[in-house]
Amino acid sequence: MNKISAIMLGLSLAGMTAAHAVNTDKLAIQEELPVGKAAGEYPTPPGWDKLPEGEFGEKIIRGYNYFVNTQSLSPEFVGDGLNCVNCHMDAGKKENAAPLWAAYMSYPAYRKKNDRINSYEERIQGCFLYSMNGTPPEHMNPVLVDLSAYAYWLAQGTMTGEQFDPAKMAIPSDEDLLKGGKRDDFPFMQAYLDNGGTAEVKTPGRGYPKLSDPGQEPDITRGKAVYAQECAVCHGANGEGQKVNDRYVFPPLWGPDTYNWGAGMQRVNTAAYFIHKNMPLGQPEKLTEQQAWDVAMYLDTQERPQDPRNKGSLEETTEKFHGGYSQYGKEFNGSVLGTASYPNHPNKP
Ligand code: HEC
Ligand code: HEC
Repeated sequence: MNKISAIMLGLSLAGMTAAHAVNTDKLAIQEELPVGKAAGEYPTPPGWDKLPEGEFGEKIIRGYNYFVNTQSLSPEFVGDGLNCVNCHMDAGKKENAAPLWAAYMSYPAYRKKNDRINSYEERIQGCFLYSMNGTPPEHMNPVLVDLSAYAYWLAQGTMTGEQFDPAKMAIPSDEDLLKGGKRDDFPFMQAYLDNGGTAEVKTPGRGYPKLSDPGQEPDITRGKAVYAQECAVCHGANGEGQKVNDRYVFPPLWGPDTYNWGAGMQRVNTAAYFIHKNMPLGQPEKLTEQQAWDVAMYLDTQERPQDPRNKGSLEETTEKFHGGYSQYGKEFNGSVLGTASYPNHPNKP
């Protein structure tokens, strides 16, 4: 079988195990990324012709498949109707859409807020818990290893650019893969080190680029008008998305089947940054910055699945984990957001 057909057919669920409890308290904070301005030039991730042979190549293919077709993992790990690729676009390769090549080289990362180091694995587990409204696979689960292998391979372009030769690619152990690439002791490719490369890889295009603060307070009524004109055609009049053969072709933006109240996307600023650069699909920056703020406010003041960190008290959850641009716990049209939320990781039929 050639590589491309292996990729197309290669959705192997081998190695999947039942989800065991992950200590989700450790994943408590979906912190904002320290993103800079959008840069002019971005590294080029390798194409499929640069896939290494053998077992490691298989891991990468499986990781790619998990990333673009995450629904196939349900019901174990995924509780909503999304795939990773819905927010990390172009299979995690697109700059300014939280690309994996930049992410991989940014972990392990120290987080001031809770004074701890986050591995790449923990960051992915966080997206399972919040963005996928799911139950994260446990430490060392093959799904996490494969997803990390895919990101590591894409990151070869950030390290070596044009010179990347898959035959010379260093193959880390599973344990090493899960930690992420920002480490002095990471098994970097020799050619990279010979060129003076270090663990401080520059990652322009990381995350979603910041917008300036809105000129006017983001406004739901204006946002609703932008939504009706620019978004509803694909995402539905009520943010419910659109399905073909029971699969979403246009993902839902609010309601029971999308990211929950703990996700990064429920912060109005994060959503505005994403939308301005990536939506409407295929028309980046069509919206003015103000329109992006307004429509983000509109969709992030709609109910969605509960914040999984809510142990019974909305006030406590709001105080501990929300604030700033999150609208959780605030009142709109007579109801407080977070009081009529949908369940976490609902069992699917
Ligand atoms: C609903 C949208 C959404 C979905 C779906 C989603 N993510 Fe994310 N992801 C985000 C946001 C938002 C961030 C943080 C970006 C920010 O704050 O600028 C993020 C951050 C990340 C990061 C860290 C990026 C960095 O540069 O530090 C990784 C890695 C990641 N996600 C992987 C995944 C994986 C794997 C999946 C699928 C299991 C997934 N994500 C699903 C929205 C999503
Ligand atoms: C032409 C169809 C189309 C239009 C119009 C469109 N989107 Fe999307 N949107 C998509 C698709 C498809 C994805 C998933 C992208 C992927 O998987 O590559 C997406 C993803 C998203 C996501 C992240 C995934 C999720 O479910 O949360 C958000 C947020 C979003 N769109 C908001 C908007 C907003 C706001 C507008 C209007 C300004 C808009 N979109 C207009 C097709 C569209």
